[in-house]
Amino acid sequence: MQKRKLGFTDMEITTIGFGAWAVGGGNWKWGWGSQDDAESVAAIQKGLDLGINWIDTAAAYGLGHSEEMVRKAIRGHRGQIYIATKCGLVWDDPSTGTVYNRLKGWSVRQEAENSLRRLGVDIIDLYQIHWPKPDADLEEGWTEIARLVKEGKIRYAGVSNFSLEQIKRAQKIHPVASLQPEYSLLERSVERELLKYCAEQQIGIIAYSPMASGLLTGKYTRETIESIASNDWRRNFSVHFREPMLTANLAFIEKLGQIASRFDRSLGELAVAWVLQRNEMTAAIVGARRPNQIEQIVPATDWQIPVDVIAEINVLLAEREAQFKA
Ligand SMILES: NC(=O)c1ccc[n+]([C@@H]2O[C@H](COP(=O)([O-])OP(=O)(O)OC[C@H]3O[C@@H](n4cnc5c(N)ncnc54)[C@H](OP(=O)(O)O)[C@@H]3O)[C@@H](O)[C@H]2O)c1
Repeated sequence: MQKRKLGFTDMEITTIGFGAWAVGGGNWKWGWGSQDDAESVAAIQKGLDLGINWIDTAAAYGLGHSEEMVRKAIRGHRGQIYIATKCGLVWDDPSTGTVYNRLKGWSVRQEAENSLRRLGVDIIDLYQIHWPKPDADLEEGWTEIARLVKEGKIRYAGVSNFSLEQIKRAQKIHPVASLQPEYSLLERSVERELLKYCAEQQIGIIAYSPMASGLLTGKYTRETIESIASNDWRRNFSVHFREPMLTANLAFIEKLGQIASRFDRSLGELAVAWVLQRNEMTAAIVGARRPNQIEQIVPATDWQIPVDVIAEINVLLAEREAQFKA
């Protein structure tokens, strides 16, 4: 599998990382409906068997459950893979299934200790602030992460969902190794300024939701979206799965599907390969709930989409985006 160096770090990561949000299960507000633990572990292990060398998880995913699934899946593999996890979304009473933002220093430290224990590792390779909220506590949380790096509990520190201004504030305290933004054919705002800045600063970029949380696999129709489980966050919260975007998204996806078929590729592969054609992008984090899902997407790492096809996709992108301009 293709690898790229993550920013200024010494970590050579595969251009697809395994995204472990969905394997956190459905028992919380941002869950993905019911999920079988054995399938979760098998999906992660299939990814590792196929050559993926890193996993992205977060304490919040399933309120610790995703990290526990990762611990089970990496047994015996720890030496060969990197673990990225996140802090800053915490919970008090797990029975409510809700999380909230907190970046107080003591809280970040407590979260890191809990993640180390749940993951069953001595060091976290990449520790990321999940959301820059509350903004006023960004420096406090990041300073604590810098301390954890010095203590050897964290190898590198990264951020997620940060603006340019927030990255610059963090850089004054400690080097930012990576940015984790949403990036896909349906969400390109990172192209405005962040891709260029991160490339200049040797900050790695790992794109989340490269298949728009499943919509860019082409398997969803208006009808199947209606039948998504009530405890699947996409039903209630995803902007991509709802109007006013949905009609335009489905029309766009149909045309993209025709392009993918010309190459005997799935739409999911096209979506991921498109993310990876940007030089600034280090890798895409691909979520999977079953072994066959990750198996179908991994070949995207070796597919260089031809330049004329990129141009063809650009025309479709412009047509879709014109519909949302004021
Ligand atoms: N930092 C953040 O704020 C943030 C936010 C979002 C995500 N992330 C990270 O990025 C990772 C990936 O993002 P994501 O999980 O939202 O989305 P994604 O990778 O765009 O889509 C993953 C989903 O697509 C479906 N899928 C996967 N492979 C498929 C296949 N071959 N055929 C058909 N369907 C397939 C699965 O859901 P269904 O089968 O249920 O459709 C799967 O859960 C997450 O796991 C997480 O690690 C981070």
